Amino acid sequence: MDFSKKIINWYEKNKRKLPWRETKNPYYILVSEFMLQQTRVSQIIKYYLNFIKKFPSLEKLAQAEEKDVLKEWEGLGYYSRAKNLHFFAKKLKNDKKFFPKKYKELIKYKGIGPYTGAAVASICFKEIIPAIDGNAFRVFSRYFGIYNDITSTATKNMFRVIVSKIMDFEQPGIFNQAIMDLGSILCTPKNTKCLLCPIKDSCFSIQNKTVYKLPVKKINKFIRHRFFYYLFICDRNNNICINKRSSKDIWKGLYDFPLIESKNNLLINEIIDTVWEKFRIIVYKTLIYKIEHKLTHQILSIRFFNCEILQDLNKNIFFQKFFFIPHNQIGVYPFPRPIILFLKHKKMI
Ligand code: ADE
Repeated sequence: MDFSKKIINWYEKNKRKLPWRETKNPYYILVSEFMLQQTRVSQIIKYYLNFIKKFPSLEKLAQAEEKDVLKEWEGLGYYSRAKNLHFFAKKLKNDKKFFPKKYKELIKYKGIGPYTGAAVASICFKEIIPAIDGNAFRVFSRYFGIYNDITSTATKNMFRVIVSKIMDFEQPGIFNQAIMDLGSILCTPKNTKCLLCPIKDSCFSIQNKTVYKLPVKKINKFIRHRFFYYLFICDRNNNICINKRSSKDIWKGLYDFPLIESKNNLLINEIIDTVWEKFRIIVYKTLIYKIEHKLTHQILSIRFFNCEILQDLNKNIFFQKFFFIPHNQIGVYPFPRPIILFLKHKKMI
């Protein structure tokens, strides 16, 4: 039996039952693949089901407001995925185009990279094109004994050429998904289950004991540490002050609170001074919540403070860019995860 038949036979018996595997609707598959970029399957199932319930078609997504799309993505991270998906829906509607069926067409859209384009084109339209995600890089680098750095574009292209020769030409979508499952069930980063693997007899790494040496992945060691001091401001009418993030930075399009940011940890006196300088308001000395939040290349140390307002904020020019929303409207806005945790801590959502 050849390589692809062994993989597909194994998949038919062992595949994971996932909601997006019950459809070939390219819109649903695209939603799932956008969500799966850099995120584990177990984390996205609930999000996927809620998202397609709220936006059951590309048309409905195109009509939606960005705030409502981001609300469905709230907590998943990498929010540019939601914005790119929304943009894709609006662009097709605007250009009066049908869903693109070809890999070459799909990858012209922002957010649809070689992996996502290949997954959609192979699963929905049977195009013979390898979809190589992190799982697949691990499987193939171990199987063939490839030591090249899998984060480099040249290596990625080399893998695509190799896999396009050995993949299943009749069922390219099934083959691609079978490799993903093999990588997440057997050929895992740690505690591999090589004895159960359908291609163990011809695997380079099993014969040469290199399973845990591969893949080779150059790690970007630069981690930026940022200190965020959030001001929780509730006025006399119980309205809460929120900010829409608009700068070219993390969480663009989501909401947060007035913020002081620093490159280093500030002492309480420095926080009080900076808040006064920036906003002309006074911070209570009480720290009400703190959290460490890790992103791919950043660590955020976040502190939340209660603020006392000495003047009418309507007249405060520093507050003109913020919104005051009624207490009970807080659940309508999309917030990044640390803010959600804070609001939960305060039992506001
Ligand atoms: N990871 C990325 N895409 C996937 C898919 N379609 N099924 C399972 N895991 C995946």
